[in-house]
Amino acid sequence: MKKIYCLNAISSKGTALLNEEYELTENMKEASGVLVRSASMHEMELPDDLLAVARAGAGVNNIPLDACADKGIVVFNTPGANANGVKELVIAGLMLASRDVVGGINWVKDNKEDENIAKSVEKAKKAFAGCEIKGKKLGVIGLGAIGAEVANAAASLGMEVYGYDPFISVNAAWMLSRNVRHITSVETIYRECDYITIHVPLLDGTRGMIKSESIAQMKNGVVILNFARDVLVNEDDMAEALKAKKVKCYVTDFPNTKSVNMEGAIVIPHLGASTEESEDNCARMAVEEIVDYIDNGNIRNS
Ligand code: MLT
Repeated sequence: MKKIYCLNAISSKGTALLNEEYELTENMKEASGVLVRSASMHEMELPDDLLAVARAGAGVNNIPLDACADKGIVVFNTPGANANGVKELVIAGLMLASRDVVGGINWVKDNKEDENIAKSVEKAKKAFAGCEIKGKKLGVIGLGAIGAEVANAAASLGMEVYGYDPFISVNAAWMLSRNVRHITSVETIYRECDYITIHVPLLDGTRGMIKSESIAQMKNGVVILNFARDVLVNEDDMAEALKAKKVKCYVTDFPNTKSVNMEGAIVIPHLGASTEESEDNCARMAVEEIVDYIDNGNIRNS
């Protein structure tokens, strides 16, 4: 029997695809394949007989890529499988940064004993008034599966969308997201956009890309959304920019000791792909990739 070790619990829709030649093991040392969600494998000893690791998700920064390459272990991810789930939360993030829904809900909770609450809503309407996203400019940095979905969805909500991706041609980007103005310099996004959302992978060249120098080029009162990875943003610089009101709101899907203490940030506990549908899609794709590789030597999304 070929053995698969699940480092994180993954959706049973995925493991159900393992054929009769496979079984799940509790012992990673005897595994030919490892399925992983978000747990870090960086400190782990990789089993000698391990053939493949499949990440049920897009980012692979929790996997020691160099160590895997040295041992000939193929690493897969599941691009696009959770793109819709993440896109929907990014759109919610755009709304939350524009309409003070959180403030309003908290106001209702704080005033729930007030018998006249219905009459007080006039006060709340003023206190929590917001702005609409229609007609505003959104810059999407990174037009992979998630960025392209976000760009199209935002355009359908009436936003003027600017897209930038250093790795794909303007023509290819246009095929992915047709309602988007594709531009070739990220500085144009910094200069022009009211909202900026980041959808690039974590690489040496993207780590800390949003920092004081880039923020300085942005509009006063810009909203920045980060559903990609926290370290793409220099969060010390972000805290300063929020304090100075240069950035109106930082929406991040990554709670950490810095982001949770930022005034003006909306911090979500990495829920982008936490939907039943995304979990199922990622698990299915990860299992299919690992089995196809172990059984047939086929490599997709590596
Ligand atoms: C991803 O890498 O796919 C996203 O961060 C979502 C997730 O893993 O939960």
